[in-house]
Amino acid sequence: MNKDKIWLSSPHMGGTEQKFVNEAFEQNWVAPLGPNVNGFENDVEKYLFSESSKEGAVAALSSGTAALHLALVMLGVKSGDEVLCQSMTFAASANPIAYLGATPVFVDSEEETLNLCPKHLKRAIEDRIAKGKKPKAIIAVHLYGMPYQVDKINKIASEFDIPVVEDAAEALGSTYKGEKCGTFSEYAILSFNGNKIITTSGGGALITKTPAAKEKAVFLATQARDTAPHYQHSEIGYNYRLSNISAGIGRGQMQVIDKRVRARREMHDFYVDLFSEIEGVKVHSAPNNDFFSNHWLSVVSIDKEKTGGVSREDLRLHLEALNIESRPLWKPMHLQPVFRNAAFYGDGIAENLFENGLCLPSGSNLSQEQKERIKNGILSCLKEYK
Ligand SMILES: Cc1ncc(COP(=O)(O)O)c(C=O)c1O
Repeated sequence: MNKDKIWLSSPHMGGTEQKFVNEAFEQNWVAPLGPNVNGFENDVEKYLFSESSKEGAVAALSSGTAALHLALVMLGVKSGDEVLCQSMTFAASANPIAYLGATPVFVDSEEETLNLCPKHLKRAIEDRIAKGKKPKAIIAVHLYGMPYQVDKINKIASEFDIPVVEDAAEALGSTYKGEKCGTFSEYAILSFNGNKIITTSGGGALITKTPAAKEKAVFLATQARDTAPHYQHSEIGYNYRLSNISAGIGRGQMQVIDKRVRARREMHDFYVDLFSEIEGVKVHSAPNNDFFSNHWLSVVSIDKEKTGGVSREDLRLHLEALNIESRPLWKPMHLQPVFRNAAFYGDGIAENLFENGLCLPSGSNLSQEQKERIKNGILSCLKEYK
C-alpha cells in the first residue's frame, strides 16, 4: 500500500477562501455573525433563486442537521407526533425527529432515483391516518444529488396537506425541471460538511420561502433572545448559527460551485464509460431529462450473478487493498438498531440497494493519474474473478 489514498469525496478549495477568512481576522469578525455570514447567505440565495420565478431566503447554520432540526421546530413538530422519512438516507435526516421526541415512520425508495417512493408514501400516510395519527411532516431526500420525484411527492403531500421538508444536503447544484433543488418546499436544507460538493469545513443552511421565516429561524438559532437590554427568553433557543470564519470558506467555494458540479458530473460519465462494457454493473443515472443530478457521489449496483461472482463487497475490499476508498450505500434507517421499533412501509428496494450498491470515488479534485488507478483497480477486480 504505497500509493496515496484516493478518497470518496474530499474538500476542494477554489483559491479565494483564505482571502475571506483573512478578512474575518483582520476585521475581528471572529464570531458566529459578520460580513461573511451575510455574504455567504446572499451568494447561496442568488445561486438558488436568481434564475427562478420563486423567492426564498437562506439562513446559514452550523450544520445540515441543525437546519433539519430547526425546520421541524418551525413546522411545530412536537413530542408524540409522527414524521415520515425516507429510509434510504444518512442518519442525520432522521435524528432530528427523535430530538423532538417525535416518532419517525420510514418509507422505502423507488428504483429510478433511489429516493422516496410515491406509492409507499401514499400507503404510509393512509395507514397512519387510519391508525389515528396524521403525520406532521415528510422528509424527502435528494440522495447522492439525484432529485427525488418532486412532482409526485408534492402532489401527495398537498393532497393530504402535509408539509415536505426537502433534505438537499447532498444536492446543491442539482435541478428538477430546471429548478434548483432546495426550492421545492416550505423548508429545505443544505449541508456544507467536509465531504459535500462545496464545504465550509462544517456547516449547513435552512432555506425558507420568506424573509420572515428566515428571521424566525435565525432568532431560534441564536438562543431565542427577546428584544430587551437584558437577556430574556420566551422560547427555547439553539446555538446553531454558522461562524463568520466558516462562512468565509463558503464564500470562496460559491465562486467555484459550477465548476464543482461539472467535475462531479464528469466523474459520473467516467464510470458510465468504464462500466459500459462490463456486464452486471449498473451506474445509477437520471431517469430522464427532468432530473439533473450534481452526482455528488457516483453510485453503482452490482449483480454478482452477472459479474461472474464479483459482489459489491468483493469490489470494495479489492479497492481498499489498493488504497482506494469506496463505500456501501447508506444503510436504510429501518434496518438501524437505533430505529428498530419504527414502522416501515416498503418492499425491499432500499434493502437491495444497500446489499448491492457501492459509492465510488467521486471528488472534483481527482487527477488523471488517480482516475487511471481507479479504472485499473476496478478492471483488475472484475477480471480476476471472471
Ligand atoms: C442526506 C443528508 N442529510 C443531512 C445531512 C446532515 O448534514 P451535516 O453533516 O451538515 O449535519 C447529511 C450529511 O452529512 C446528509 O448526507
